[in-house]
Amino acid sequence: MPHDPDLPPAKKFKPGSVFFRLEKNKPGMLLPRKGNVTTPIDVQRKQLPIYQARTRLVNELRQLHNAIVIGETGSGKTTQIPQYLFETGIGRQGLIAITQPRRVAAISLAARVSEEKRTQIGKLVGYTVRFEDVTSPETKLKFMTDGMLLREAIGDPMLLRYTVVVLDEAHERTVHTDVLFGVVKSAQRRRRELNKIPLKVIVMSATMDVDLFSEYFNKSPVLYLEGRQHPIQIYYTKQPQSDYLQAALVSVFQIHQEAPQSHDILVFMTGQEEIEALARTCRDIAKHLPDSCGPMVVIPLYASLPPAQQLRVFQPAPKGCRKVILATNIAETSVTISGIKFVIDTGMVKAKRFNPDSGLEVLAVQRVSKAQAWQRAGRAGREDAGFCYRLYTEQEFDNFTPMTVPEIQRCNLAGVMLQLMALGIPDVMNFDFMSKPSPEAVRSAVDHLELLGAVERKDGQVLLTALGKRMASFPLEPRYAKTILLSPDFSCSEEILSIVSLLSVDTVLYNPPARRDEVLAARKKFTSSEGDHMTLLNVYRAFKKVGGNKEWCRENFVNSRNMGLVKDVQAQLREICLKLNLKLESCGADTGNVRRCLAHGMFINAAELQPDGSYLALDTHQAVAIHPSSVLFQAKPAYVVFNELLYTSRCYMRDLCLVDADWLLDAAPEYFGRKLHLSRS
Ligand code: CDP
Ligand code: MG
Repeated sequence: MPHDPDLPPAKKFKPGSVFFRLEKNKPGMLLPRKGNVTTPIDVQRKQLPIYQARTRLVNELRQLHNAIVIGETGSGKTTQIPQYLFETGIGRQGLIAITQPRRVAAISLAARVSEEKRTQIGKLVGYTVRFEDVTSPETKLKFMTDGMLLREAIGDPMLLRYTVVVLDEAHERTVHTDVLFGVVKSAQRRRRELNKIPLKVIVMSATMDVDLFSEYFNKSPVLYLEGRQHPIQIYYTKQPQSDYLQAALVSVFQIHQEAPQSHDILVFMTGQEEIEALARTCRDIAKHLPDSCGPMVVIPLYASLPPAQQLRVFQPAPKGCRKVILATNIAETSVTISGIKFVIDTGMVKAKRFNPDSGLEVLAVQRVSKAQAWQRAGRAGREDAGFCYRLYTEQEFDNFTPMTVPEIQRCNLAGVMLQLMALGIPDVMNFDFMSKPSPEAVRSAVDHLELLGAVERKDGQVLLTALGKRMASFPLEPRYAKTILLSPDFSCSEEILSIVSLLSVDTVLYNPPARRDEVLAARKKFTSSEGDHMTLLNVYRAFKKVGGNKEWCRENFVNSRNMGLVKDVQAQLREICLKLNLKLESCGADTGNVRRCLAHGMFINAAELQPDGSYLALDTHQAVAIHPSSVLFQAKPAYVVFNELLYTSRCYMRDLCLVDADWLLDAAPEYFGRKLHLSRS
């Protein structure tokens, strides 16, 4: 095995120590999905730690307008509290909303709770996520993403349909959660002022900066749920690790060779690509281990995985087989997986980072916060004492930031500002944020919107333009909304709707690394020299031609479920277009129009080839490179527009479209007048 990350040998835990004496079925211990025992669902509900606190909890919540509930992940907050409220008639006059930062969580929780209530999903218990609404007039418990409740607030700023809003996973502090905090708080105040039915606001989390939240939510009382957290032994590496993937690999196999087979391993990593790569390596190595090592099943878990595959993590491994889960931070709090005895924490996470001076938002692999690291370690102590191997030194850990910086302070705020203005918030510059974004970031967002024509500055005020209002009708980033609104001018609205829909769902192309050659061969017939957008469009056109045929999808490595979702998204965007009286037409084979339109809508994300073969982002003059996954990787065209930047070893542009310099100049003459080297166009 390659270099040793200086882990403490698991051998040192002698047989007879707590490490081996695991009493799996202690009374009161919840292990519903392990082994062959299936506990009836209502018994499972009663076994949850929160059940003992039910009466006290309900009494408190009945009286309070604001409450903060803190309890270990898996204690039953999300699935039980909404049911308790409903069962005891709290908030009966309206709906109970439970918000989630992730759509996967909203969907799976709604499914779980409707199962517990023995109702069909969409009846009593439903969910609403972007482009998917599974609710009915009967729905009382509504799981939804933060973003969806925010959109509802545009039409109903006091959220009058709801009597309770549960802001769940509040510590995640996504942009949407933070904006929602302010919107819900203001709805609550206005309802009080106008003598409407009061709005109860419950903030829930496993860990968070309680003082900050309590202060912000009107000095809200904090209710602690007693957790069933078992002790966890933490190990650090002796030396800093230059390659955390290698270190993770070594750790997985060290544990695999030495720990009892029934102890599952959860590894925290940063994203789909490295997870799939490590999964492949683990499977390869596992095949060649001596028989004394038992079998291992490796299961990836990340947000863009199709839901059916995500559910695999909850299924017990076959008897005598070790489960190794390679997950992103999705497994920190959003989902509870039983059987985890070991956590391996790479200490890394992929997150947005924003530089207001350059206006650049990138996805970057970076260090987690201390709070995140503790949360990760906690996953090992759900059912019994556990172990966490941190692939960094204790000194490194000491230098981690204590709390994760809220996303609102590290992302491009253009979309948020547009939404706040559409919500009719009078002074967006001074919105009541729990953590205020920097004035530079706000200014840079307003500049961005001004460039897109969504706002104008008048007498020191920022006003939404007619175009801006139309842009805010779409649940999309401002530049996509703008591109759609421009598309009739280029007679290609159908194509643009397809492309935006394709970019709005998780990856539609499926790339099993083990079958790389087959994938490349299958993909060839769709590849367009005009770029990734056009390639995706070709796939989509072919998909529609065969009527979404499943066999075709399999042969062409197309994710048929996500493709189905693309169709739904497109239908919804089309509906919005019709409401806005937008002309819908297709440009047929003349795809030059589509690229022209993309150049006009996405000009802020343009890059120019330099004489030395590198690229410069025109907006910020940042050095960027074409991501190897792009169909333009070899071609190196003079000008491109791109969808996003991903920062790993370098700053990569992802999803590119070939454009002409003239089009960019046309799109924003003043803005580009200074920036383009037209000699190379
Ligand atoms: O919100 P919190 O982390 O406190 O717990 P929860 O999400 O309410 O989950 C409580 C328990 O319900 C978990 O430990 C699982 O046993 C079960 N559950 C499940 O089986 N399937 C889900 N989709 C969600 C929860
Ligand atoms: Mg929860």
